[in-house]
Amino acid sequence: MGEYEQLKFRSSELMQAVSTKHEFALARDPTAPDQVSAPAVSEPRNSPRERAGIGAAVAKAFVRAGCSRIVLTDLNKATLADTCDAVRGINPEVQIYAHDGDISDEGFVETLVDEAVGRFQRIDYSVQCAGIRGSSLRSHEMTTDEFDLVNRVNYRGTWLVTRAVIRHMVQQESLPGQHRIRKQRGAVVNVASQLGIVSRPGAVAYSASKAAVVNMTRADAIDYSQNGIRVNCVCPGIIDTPMTTGNTGAREGLQPAIEIAPMKRIGLPEEIADAVLFLCSGEASFVQGHALVVDGGYIIN
Ligand SMILES: NC(=O)c1ccc[n+]([C@@H]2O[C@H](COP(=O)([O-])OP(=O)(O)OC[C@H]3O[C@@H](n4cnc5c(N)ncnc54)[C@H](O)[C@@H]3O)[C@@H](O)[C@H]2O)c1
Repeated sequence: MGEYEQLKFRSSELMQAVSTKHEFALARDPTAPDQVSAPAVSEPRNSPRERAGIGAAVAKAFVRAGCSRIVLTDLNKATLADTCDAVRGINPEVQIYAHDGDISDEGFVETLVDEAVGRFQRIDYSVQCAGIRGSSLRSHEMTTDEFDLVNRVNYRGTWLVTRAVIRHMVQQESLPGQHRIRKQRGAVVNVASQLGIVSRPGAVAYSASKAAVVNMTRADAIDYSQNGIRVNCVCPGIIDTPMTTGNTGAREGLQPAIEIAPMKRIGLPEEIADAVLFLCSGEASFVQGHALVVDGGYIIN
């Protein structure tokens, strides 16, 4: 029991965060109390102002779990500012490095990650969350530019951030205080989609981009196991975020798809955040290259 407790998710592993709204990485705070606790279950949002995306829910979940340093980024300045406010609302002491930008821009990503490391020294956890849905079109209706845009952000952007983060992770020591077999140097979680596993009408570019993220995750997991880095992804089902329910009437339009899942409800961003936290935590120390589907059973039906 003693050993088991020692191996449980330590909030101190998340104490020092280099995290972003849409990609984030976290680094351990050597001064943090070595508390032992299971990942905190994320609280659902209370107010309309808190209605935000999966990235914001992930950032808040990490801060609730004890993360004290976090890097946040988003293309949209207002969204980024809202996330910073929400994170400070949980812990006013949290150190935030926030910079808006485009994750499909190689120069921006490299600078962001270098500056994050310069400021916080380590990157222990990185979550790639930024994504776009694109237009609902069949292949013969879609322009090359539309196809390229979805893939540039969802797939190439995710790879650019992962590459920049892993470049630093491979050089850092494993987190101290971990079991000698279960120790890790870093953990990466990519946000793919249930549509990276199955598809639906009018989702050719999106489905392809998310399937690429799933297999990119596996490839990186194979390549970096030897470095003590775990790389996994989550595949959300239909989640209540601005992407899906941001427009008037969008919720009604989604209902037929929601009904496919045996649980017959839309998911909360906090439910994805909880899965992300688990995959980052020491409790997932033997989970590698996995695509964790969090969809109320959509893909099994
Ligand atoms: N909501 C769902 O039902 C659902 C389902 C499966 C997968 N996902 C995935 O989850 C992730 C988060 O989606 P969400 O539902 O929170 O959507 P969202 O629209 O609320 O959040 C996506 C965020 O990404 C940002 N973004 C877009 N392009 C960017 C770029 N080039 N650089 C930096 N930031 C950029 C947007 O500004 C936005 O804030 C996405 O990758 C999405 O594909 C969502």
